Amino acid sequence: MKPNQKSNSSKKNQVEKMFDSISFEYDLLNGIMTFNNHKRWKKNILNIAKKLKPKNALDIATGTADIAINLGSISDCKVTGVDISEKMLNVGRKKISKMKLSESVSLETGDAENLNFKDNYFDLVTIGFGVRNFQDLQNGLKESFRILNEKGTLIILETSVPENKIMKLFYSIFTRTYIPLMARLFSKDISAYNYLLNSAEAFPCGQAFGKILKSVGFKKVQINPKLFGSSTIYIATK
Ligand SMILES: C[S@@+](CC[C@H](N)C(=O)[O-])C[C@H]1O[C@@H](n2cnc3c(N)ncnc32)[C@H](O)[C@@H]1O
Repeated sequence: MKPNQKSNSSKKNQVEKMFDSISFEYDLLNGIMTFNNHKRWKKNILNIAKKLKPKNALDIATGTADIAINLGSISDCKVTGVDISEKMLNVGRKKISKMKLSESVSLETGDAENLNFKDNYFDLVTIGFGVRNFQDLQNGLKESFRILNEKGTLIILETSVPENKIMKLFYSIFTRTYIPLMARLFSKDISAYNYLLNSAEAFPCGQAFGKILKSVGFKKVQINPKLFGSSTIYIATK
C-alpha cells in the first residue's frame, strides 16, 4: 500500500497503513538496506544526546523504537516514543519489555503534527527517518519546536542525496537496483518501498532542510552528512 501524495488529506492515513503493513519485517529490511549503518547513525544520535544530559526526551515517529531504546540508556532520562502506526509501536513494545526498559521508555500513539504535550516540556526531541513522511513538514517541525524547552535540542536523522556527482550516481544505481530487489525478496509490500525511495529522492536535504528548520524558529542548525551524504543528522537548537 503506497501513499498517494496527490490526495494530501489522506496521506497520514495511508502512511499509517503502509507502516502497519511492513511493521513485521521493518527491522530486518532496515538492516539489509542500510548494511546495518542505521544502527551506527542511531548510536551517533545517542552520543550527541548523552552530552546534552536530557531528563525528558521524546522520540517522534519512533516506529519500532530503536532510538527511544538507545536514549533509555541515558541515566535519569525518561523517554517517550510516539508514532501513528500502532503495529510499529507493538514491535517496539516487545523489544522494550524484552530489554526490561519499561521503567525508562514508554511508547504511545501520537501524531507529530498534533502532539499531546505541553509547550516547552522536553529537553530533547529526536526524529529518525520520520520527517519525510509527515503530511505537512512545517507543521510537524513547528510542533517539535513548541514542545522543546528554551534550551532544548532537536536531532533529526533523515535520508539525503549525496552532493558529489559520482557518489550521487552510485546512490541512484544502488537505490534503483539493490533496494527494490531486497524489498521483492523480503517484503510483501513492494510498493511501500518504492514510495520510501521516491520520497527520499524528492525530499529537501542538507542546507535546504537546514533553512526549513531555521524558518520554524530554530536558531542554530548543525548538518552532519553520513556515508557520503546518503543520510544526514541535523542538530537544531532553540
Ligand atoms: C521509516 S519509519 C522510522 C522508524 C524509526 N524512527 C527508525 O528510525 O527506524 C517512519 C515512521 O514514521 C511514522 N510516522 C509517519 N508520519 C507520522 C506522524 N505524522 N506522526 C507520528 N509518526 C509518524 C511511521 O508510522 C513510521 O513508523
